[in-house]
Amino acid sequence: MLNETYREMLQHKNVIRELSEFATARGKEIGYENVFDFSLGNPSLEAPASFTEKMTELLRTKNTMTLHGYTPTLGNPRFKEAAAESLNKRYGMHYTAQHIFPTTGAAGAVAHSVRAISKPGDEVIVIAPYFSEYTPYVEGAGCVKKVVPADTEAFQINFEELEKTFSEKTAAVLINTPNNPSGVVYTSETLTQLADMLHKQSERFGHVIYLITDEPYRDIIFEGVESPYVSSFYPHTLSCYSFAKSMSIPGERLGYVAVHPDCEGADVIVPMCGQISRGLGHNCPPSVIMQAVAEVIDDVSDLSVYETNMNLIYETLRELDMPCVKPGGTFYIFPKAAEEDAVAFCKKATAYDLILVPSDGFGVKGFFRMAYCVDTEKVKRAMPRFKQFITETYR
Ligand SMILES: Cc1ncc(COP(=O)(O)O)c(C=O)c1O
Repeated sequence: MLNETYREMLQHKNVIRELSEFATARGKEIGYENVFDFSLGNPSLEAPASFTEKMTELLRTKNTMTLHGYTPTLGNPRFKEAAAESLNKRYGMHYTAQHIFPTTGAAGAVAHSVRAISKPGDEVIVIAPYFSEYTPYVEGAGCVKKVVPADTEAFQINFEELEKTFSEKTAAVLINTPNNPSGVVYTSETLTQLADMLHKQSERFGHVIYLITDEPYRDIIFEGVESPYVSSFYPHTLSCYSFAKSMSIPGERLGYVAVHPDCEGADVIVPMCGQISRGLGHNCPPSVIMQAVAEVIDDVSDLSVYETNMNLIYETLRELDMPCVKPGGTFYIFPKAAEEDAVAFCKKATAYDLILVPSDGFGVKGFFRMAYCVDTEKVKRAMPRFKQFITETYR
């Protein structure tokens, strides 16, 4: 018999995929260069040269077993060591290789983390706007997703609402900073207040409430923006990272969970993730990629392009008087739509070959997301078109 849960999931439309498919189809008609597709968070930059060189060198010099043999269940030891050393050096932490669990991207990291610190029926709190895939990560673990409404003024955390959301069933709060879709980076004040609340609520319910922090955009930070390391604020933190965005290698599927050394269960969470992998059939990211990234772990693509693109879009929004919180990082921007119904707004934009994503799927109404991981030249060409869309449709 077919599994009804998964069959039912097929009925839910993925708006972003649909928009992207529309863009591809339209591209076939008028040339993709004429479609201003801001729908997908697919990095547009070259991978760091050092990564490509290391891959080439490995493939040329290592034997088959070293390159392509099974890695230990808990991941390539050199990669784990390199990840721990890098975090310690950059953020003054005290991780060891034992605290690092390599995963297939941030997706694998969050999915494992949720399972490691919850049991079916528990609640996981997410803060709007949130990455829409949190629903399958949380529900796939048998947990219930509880949404804290957005702080639409600054896209930090609405603490009044958060406080009301805790219950004896709360297993974790799952946050994402720098944030997809808002581009906002949580400040030290926000993270301090969050840590205080987590301590208080853990005490109130007599069990640790974990913090899962999803950070695939940790290295895409714009000039002058402070980017605090989340795990340094609260010990019971599982930090989920990915090399997809910083190295522009999303298809290689490499990330990790870093378990805070002072976290409750710090000695068992990584081995538990290994057991979770058995059930998921996940079993470690590809071997060669772990070996290559281990040697160039602090290198990144030329990420400055994203800030250039953000500034071009932000300036246009200002000229049009469209309210928008200025992103501190990522390659997303999340302005207020020119009408209440963001779905209608984005639909109208397609008549101008502008592909924008309505905010509804991120747990907020009335905004839209632009993913500006596209060529700067295309962003420049898109801005007059965007102005034309707004003035002709709304002014
Ligand atoms: C907030 C957030 N979390 C997780 C992911 C998944 O990342 P990965 O491709 O590394 O699995 C993404 C990808 O876009 C994301 O934006």
